[in-house]
Amino acid sequence: MSFPKNFVWGVAAASYQIEGAVKADGRGDSVWDMLCRKPGAIWSEQSGAEACNHYRHYKQDVALMKSLGVNAYRLSIAWPRVIPDGTGKVNAKGLAFYDKLIDELLAAGIQPYVTLFHWDYPLALYHRGGWLNRDSADWFADYTKVVVDKFSDRVKHWMTLNEPVCFTDLGHRTGAHAPGDKLAWAEVLRAAHNVLRAHGQAVQVIRARAKAKPVVGWAPCGRTCIPATDKPADIKAARQSMFQLTERNLWLHSWWSDPIFFGHYPADGLKVFGADAPQVEPGDMRTIQQPLDFFGVNIYGGDTIRAGKNGQPEVVSPATGHGLTGMDWQVTPAALYWGPRFLQERYKRPIYITENGMSGMDWIALDGQVHDPQRIDFLHRYLLELKRAVTDGIDIRGYFQWSVMDNFEWAYGYKQRFGLVYVDYPTQKRIPKDSFHWYRRVIESNGASL
Ligand code: FCB
Repeated sequence: MSFPKNFVWGVAAASYQIEGAVKADGRGDSVWDMLCRKPGAIWSEQSGAEACNHYRHYKQDVALMKSLGVNAYRLSIAWPRVIPDGTGKVNAKGLAFYDKLIDELLAAGIQPYVTLFHWDYPLALYHRGGWLNRDSADWFADYTKVVVDKFSDRVKHWMTLNEPVCFTDLGHRTGAHAPGDKLAWAEVLRAAHNVLRAHGQAVQVIRARAKAKPVVGWAPCGRTCIPATDKPADIKAARQSMFQLTERNLWLHSWWSDPIFFGHYPADGLKVFGADAPQVEPGDMRTIQQPLDFFGVNIYGGDTIRAGKNGQPEVVSPATGHGLTGMDWQVTPAALYWGPRFLQERYKRPIYITENGMSGMDWIALDGQVHDPQRIDFLHRYLLELKRAVTDGIDIRGYFQWSVMDNFEWAYGYKQRFGLVYVDYPTQKRIPKDSFHWYRRVIESNGASL
């Protein structure tokens, strides 16, 4: 079997990374605007203030997506554009932008897959305690109501949160991401718990208020483990390593997804976090455990694991020759086979790959084009593994390439280029890279060209 007939071929991007126009039409500040003002936080002191100016160029960008042939686009909505202070007054002009964008997409035959939160948290709410405040779940639910009431006549596919571990762990523990805090474990886990409650309440809001029958999921990331060989012992070790918490580490799917799908934190995690584990109030777990229609997951690579002594998992050193991308992330295509397989085994939901791609050292060549053979090879290898997963009966519904265009890569600024379309920032000119044309053929043939 190859990709099913109705397979979703998409591209993805996120509000703060592409929109720019941070002062336009009453948008409030987000924690990323704040972090970008902090000396030394972002590469070359850059910021998302301009980014791709998608806020003004969205028509052209949708036209590019149409020529690429995608049938879906994963976008996120900027909470402080819709509600500048995070709670209270709704900004009609901010909503109007997404209204026009969604209509433009639908007219181009592209389904919008909407992520409610991709990290641009309202700064005003950070001043009120942010995710550490238990009220943050209600704040998020109220924002979700506004968005769902406005767009659910046309938007059917919803994701609550993008990569909760990034904005929680990198945002509140290591400080590399906004808001840039370096808190102790107890506070980090408390924020994470409120994030899960916010997710649950948002799912309830979507289901209660959506006008068109909603398809609801989320888009986490986490450690993917790849067995070193197909021997059962290595497969077992990889599976164990992917979900088992043996030390304090929030990058395991189980810490986040066990509460959602099983209604409790994993016992091994509670043990390693001990007294720092979050305070769970009565009813919290019921709120968090809302049924989801799909498991969206962002996968860029994985760790190779073998069965070591007594069958215990052992990481195989990356020195065995994996390539590295511009981010120094390992090129490990089999992550797109084993990730969905292990996640589906455990959580038993249809899968969407909500992000996958690579940053490369792309520039405009003398012929005026952008040649990115490495991205083509990368995507080709990863998609072959995805195809293998589909062939083996894993229920995978769609694939979203990250990203439709180069954009503001968080703390790396504009140094990292992930796009299928090159963005020449000084002129805002878009140049489809070779990989853009390659991906178009993949989509056109529903993956047969791979
Ligand atoms: C993911 C983020 C996305 C982008 C890619 C490269 O962690 O969700 O916004 O930065 O990585």
